Amino acid sequence: MENKVIVVASRNAGKIREFREMLEPKGYTVKSLEDFPDMPEIEENGTTFAENAVVKAKAVTDLYGIDAISDDSGLEIDAFDRMPGIQSARWLGHDTSYTYKNQVILDRMKGNENRTCRYVCAIAVTSTRHKPVVFEDTVECTIAYEPKGENGFGYDPIMYYPPYEKTMAEMTKDEKNGISHRGKAVRKLEEWLNHENA
Ligand code: IMP
Repeated sequence: MENKVIVVASRNAGKIREFREMLEPKGYTVKSLEDFPDMPEIEENGTTFAENAVVKAKAVTDLYGIDAISDDSGLEIDAFDRMPGIQSARWLGHDTSYTYKNQVILDRMKGNENRTCRYVCAIAVTSTRHKPVVFEDTVECTIAYEPKGENGFGYDPIMYYPPYEKTMAEMTKDEKNGISHRGKAVRKLEEWLNHENA
């Protein structure tokens, strides 16, 4: 990617912060849609994380002729037939607080011992020079019995990661980025970028 500038096609502050934490130490300047205020709202009309990631990054490349990356991610709860999945951001309403969304999940999970779930992350890279490329990864968790922790964002307080015996919101940023769906997908992206820039 020219100039090592990466435009993350997102306005989600938590996601953008995590991309910055992971890519800026490697010498990339991370911009986001906040730097492109005239960019129209992008309709996520895909049926998979990968399709939606491509839709968002491609919208930026098509409009500005620049390279872009986008992350489409979400939470799959096995007991809910993998919901909210690609609807994770808008499930129960886009502007509904995560304190509320997390409580609804805990209430609906009461008495349910099948608590397995995962975060999924698909990162798309689009450019005028090549077809879209997608990197995907997951992190397996269980739904906690109560919210815990103040770090991270979104569903993190109820995402319990058994190997560390804590929720994603109780982890430091380095701990979370080390094991998360986004961290793992970003490392695949970095490897690809290294080859691209070689
Ligand atoms: P998107 O912006 O349409 O990809 O929506 C992703 C949504 O999935 C976020 O708004 C969160 O609800 C959820 N999500 C994805 N990754 C994370 C994470 O690392 N922590 C907490 N919630 C996440």
